[in-house]
Amino acid sequence: MLVLGIETSCDETAIGLVNSDGDVLGEAIFSQIEIHRQHGGVVPELASRDHLKKLAPLLEEALPPGALPRIDAIAYTQGPGLIGALMTGAVFAHSLAWAINKPAIGVHHMEAHLMVCGLQQKDLSLPYLSLLVSGGHTQLVEVRGLGDYHLWGETLDDAAGESFDKVARMLGLDYPGGPEIERIAQQGQAGKFEFPRPMSQHKTLDFSFSGLKTKVLRTLEGQPADPQLFADVALEFQSAVIDSLMTKCVQALKQTGLKQLVIAGGVAANSYLRERAQLLQEDGVRVFYPPKELCTDNGTMIAYTGLLHLEAGATPDALPLVRARFPMDEIGSAFSH
Ligand code: KG4
Ligand code: ZN
Repeated sequence: MLVLGIETSCDETAIGLVNSDGDVLGEAIFSQIEIHRQHGGVVPELASRDHLKKLAPLLEEALPPGALPRIDAIAYTQGPGLIGALMTGAVFAHSLAWAINKPAIGVHHMEAHLMVCGLQQKDLSLPYLSLLVSGGHTQLVEVRGLGDYHLWGETLDDAAGESFDKVARMLGLDYPGGPEIERIAQQGQAGKFEFPRPMSQHKTLDFSFSGLKTKVLRTLEGQPADPQLFADVALEFQSAVIDSLMTKCVQALKQTGLKQLVIAGGVAANSYLRERAQLLQEDGVRVFYPPKELCTDNGTMIAYTGLLHLEAGATPDALPLVRARFPMDEIGSAFSH
């Protein structure tokens, strides 16, 4: 089976082409960062308009010669995300599907972040624990099967990626803040500040990052815009977020007895998080994460997840379907298998 994937949930227009063997036969991505940067965040209307502009040229770029008639199905991001942005991808996918007389299927964006690890990590077996860390989500999910997810914990306020983006702004860094904080933290000196590890004393598997963000804000008040000071703050902030994430992963692994951990979503591209997670291998936990370019939003993860559902017998959508809010525990009910 050959499946085309279309991702337009936020500020990346992305296309991927994947076959049943897990080969990625085509990829193209356009990031709208420059468009939104001047506004200090993603402007939904500008995002939708740009997706419309870029979808057709990106499709041409992604498809190898002669591939279009060989496509068996088109997967697109159904949600969660910006409703107008989702709509552009859904309508494009359905129009193309109609034109080539093939089915179209909606995919859950966070499920796609979760699943894409399996594209290359064939020795990952069910069930496993996943830390899903992106710009809008921070969740600990037990994956029991395709479409069978149990939520063990999530953030009570800001998502991990969101906290990176907000603190980056305080430090005068560009959006998205995660890679920028990681970059300047390399010049930071450890131990210059003491930031809290929110929720680490709590028994629940939930996270909280807004108190940490406020602590950084208070720390910076009245301080000069000194690059070394900013690097020291970035380093301590990054350590605090990642300590908090790892503490809850360890707690969840103990509680569930699971022995495999998958780290997924944009924040999973963070090298320090990847290094810290690797250390769990010493305690007999197998740790997996996708290559960095598949951690942040991409079309391949949508194609692959659509392919998995279709191979499992899911019914394609008759019409474009989008959902701005889409809890993961409603995924199973969205498919007939
Ligand atoms: O998964 P993603 O590309 O989009 C969403 O579904 O939200 O995640 C984007 C988030 C942003 O908040 C960005 O700052 C964060 O992932 N991020 C990182 C890194 N790369 C991206 N956070 C920390 N370190 C990174 N290297
Ligand atoms: Zn994402």
